[in-house]
Amino acid sequence: MLYKPVGLKLSEMRINEELYPEKLYLKRIDKLRGIREVQKEFNQQLKKDIQSNNAISLKNTLVSIVQETFSEPRSGSIEGILETVDILISDFTSETEVIKNLFRVSNKDYTTVLHSINVMALSIGYAQNENFSKTEKRILGLCALLHDVGKTKISSEILRAPRKLNEREFKEMKAHTFYGYKILSKCKIFNDEIKLTALQHHEKLDGSGYPNKDANISRMAQIIGIIDCYEALTNDDRPYRDSMAPLKALTLLKDDVVAGKYNRRVFEKFAYSLL
Ligand SMILES: [Fe+2]
Ligand SMILES: [Fe+2]
Repeated sequence: MLYKPVGLKLSEMRINEELYPEKLYLKRIDKLRGIREVQKEFNQQLKKDIQSNNAISLKNTLVSIVQETFSEPRSGSIEGILETVDILISDFTSETEVIKNLFRVSNKDYTTVLHSINVMALSIGYAQNENFSKTEKRILGLCALLHDVGKTKISSEILRAPRKLNEREFKEMKAHTFYGYKILSKCKIFNDEIKLTALQHHEKLDGSGYPNKDANISRMAQIIGIIDCYEALTNDDRPYRDSMAPLKALTLLKDDVVAGKYNRRVFEKFAYSLL
């Protein structure tokens, strides 16, 4: 549908006075540019939300940013999320409780986007507790936000199946690790840990994980692996399984630590960061 004949532009005056239809259509070649613009707008909103300590609005803004980014997850849009993480880990933010509250803001519509944001909120808490440098915080925040970006390539029937997956579906689901690695390999991101985390966050130290049964797991992927599991256990609202109380989830994770699946030190640090 065209709003204007080809060649005619939407005038500044109409934009200022909001005299345009509710839906505007972009040419496909302009889509990335559109996403970058939207990301910029939302990042400004994000700053305001943090300043006003409004966790609900902050979460909604973050959902919009990540949704927008995941709608076209490739080089050009993924990089735009760098600024988002930078805002969240800035000195100013570390002074506020709003990031901690971010995780507690419940949201019924459980999606990959929300899960990623929750994992990031918990990761920032972890990084603060570990006294990570600013660079490390930034890397961990990005690892968290992007660890499941490969799920954008999985069909929503599988992602939203209200039951346990069958073998074929589970195999497809597991491939989100490869897909994520592939997507991030094509992006201009300054650190390899980010794509490694997408690939390895379901691996276990005893080699029982997937996709490669690799016991040699990068540092950030070990952290995200634990936080990812904790978030899924406590926040998952899949109909066939109730979500767990924090303590119960931690007990379950501890059993996996004892069994040699997770790093004990990382687990302890994470548990303390929740206090
Ligand atoms: Fe995952
Ligand atoms: Fe995840």
